[in-house]
Amino acid sequence: MASNRNLLMLPGDGIGPEVMNEVRKIIAWMGKKRAVGFDIKEDLVGGAALDKHGVPLSDDAMKAALEADAVLFGSVGGPKWDTADFSKKPERGLLRLRKEMDLFANLRPAKVFDALVDASSLKPEIVKGLDLMIIRELTSGVYFGEPRGRHTNARGEVEAFDTQRYTAPEIRRVCAVAFELARKRKNKVLSAEKANVMYTGVLWREEATKLHKESYSDVALSHMYADALAMQLLRSPKDFDVIVTDNLFGDILSDEASMLTGSLGLLPSASLGAPDATGRRKALYEPIHGSAPDIAGKGLANPIAQTLSYGMMLRYSFDLGNEADLVEKAVENVLAAGYRTGDLLVGGKTDGIKKVGTQEMGDAIVKELDRLV
Ligand code: IPM
Ligand code: MN
Repeated sequence: MASNRNLLMLPGDGIGPEVMNEVRKIIAWMGKKRAVGFDIKEDLVGGAALDKHGVPLSDDAMKAALEADAVLFGSVGGPKWDTADFSKKPERGLLRLRKEMDLFANLRPAKVFDALVDASSLKPEIVKGLDLMIIRELTSGVYFGEPRGRHTNARGEVEAFDTQRYTAPEIRRVCAVAFELARKRKNKVLSAEKANVMYTGVLWREEATKLHKESYSDVALSHMYADALAMQLLRSPKDFDVIVTDNLFGDILSDEASMLTGSLGLLPSASLGAPDATGRRKALYEPIHGSAPDIAGKGLANPIAQTLSYGMMLRYSFDLGNEADLVEKAVENVLAAGYRTGDLLVGGKTDGIKKVGTQEMGDAIVKELDRLV
């Protein structure tokens, strides 16, 4: 269907292509039932691109991503490419996209579905109703800081180094996203760093505090060391609303937060750039899970994180909040009806549960969409 919405799909490696196929069903449904169409391009990323082009992201794919209104990304990596040169690792494809699209704000919501309260490894009363949003800085910090590399030092030892580096504007722009988002939620921001041991942590805390005072004093701001937050997230996760933190802490803390919800297979994310003159932001949407090589190609992967990533795209890139609500509602209802992929069965209850594979889960979601409208 012709439209003015340009979408680039990058399924990538491992379970990426499988879970993306389930999203294609929903895209087709949206075209037919809600007249929401996309002009879709598709390309390779990660190991798939490395095999074909010798690089984890071709310049053509990079150009297509810069031109698209939104990129829907699957996952990258796998044992096949473990021995690839560091500069060509599948992950570099994703990091190039983030950097060149300047996607500095990574929104990682962690919401516990009522039907899945038992799937969490924490006690139900600790996680029931949990709804938090981690904002991870995504284009700076130790992921990109220079100098980085390895060499043999003066003592003849092999030595490797990365640099944690942040500028004040980099900190401010991501904190601004957190404050803006908090205003639409419970109006609380927790900023996490290691101001006790890192210069970047001290600067982070200063800038968050200054920006808060200047422009967001209506929002409740508090600070915590990242290690203490890791502990509090397990002890009392419902204390938090919006959490803002740097690239590496955000990577780690969001994996931890995802397990509060029961599975890594559930959580979507949105990576956003700064709005341009027309208000349009460059954007990439991806599940926070990886390529899961152990189950790839077996039809076992949970397509929900990819589906919800598509839902976030509808909401944040195309202002289709009603359609995004529909997708989320359909997922919620399918879980309430007892559909479970394998990742959701660990420690969960078994009565009324239907164990399904990737395609059956996707079909159940589409069927539920049909029922909802
Ligand atoms: C993530 C992933 C990536 C990261 C990898 C695949 C480069 O773990 O999106 O959380 O470390 O940022
Ligand atoms: Mn990660």
